[in-house]
Amino acid sequence: MSAVSSMTQVYVCGVEDVPVGEGLRVESDELPEPVAVFNDEGRFYALSDTCSHATASLAEGEVKDCQVECPLHWARFDLETGRARSLPALLPVRAYPVTVLDGRVYVTVPGGGAS
Ligand code: FES
Repeated sequence: MSAVSSMTQVYVCGVEDVPVGEGLRVESDELPEPVAVFNDEGRFYALSDTCSHATASLAEGEVKDCQVECPLHWARFDLETGRARSLPALLPVRAYPVTVLDGRVYVTVPGGGAS
C-alpha cells in the first residue's frame, strides 16, 4: 500500500571529464535514459540528453549562462530546471539533481535500489 519512491545516486563521470562550457553524454544501465552532464563555470548539471524538439544530443550543445543551446535548431534549455527557454522547443527536458563529491559527479535518478 505504501508508495515510497526511492532515489538512487548514480556515478556518471569525473569532474575532469567535462570541461567548462561543455557537455558529456552518459549512457548507463543505471540511468533511465541517456543523460547529458554539463559544466557551466564549474557548476555541474544534468539533463535528458535528447532535445524535446527532435532528436539532437544536448551534450553537443553550447553551454553558457546556465543554459544549453541545442546544436540542431538552437533551442535553449535551462540547466537547472530543464525548461525550454526559446523556440523551437516548447517542452522541457528532464533535469536531474547532481552531486559532486571528491571530484566525482553523481546524478540522482528515481527508482533503483536494486533488490
Ligand atoms: S532538435 Fe533541438 S531544437 Fe530542434
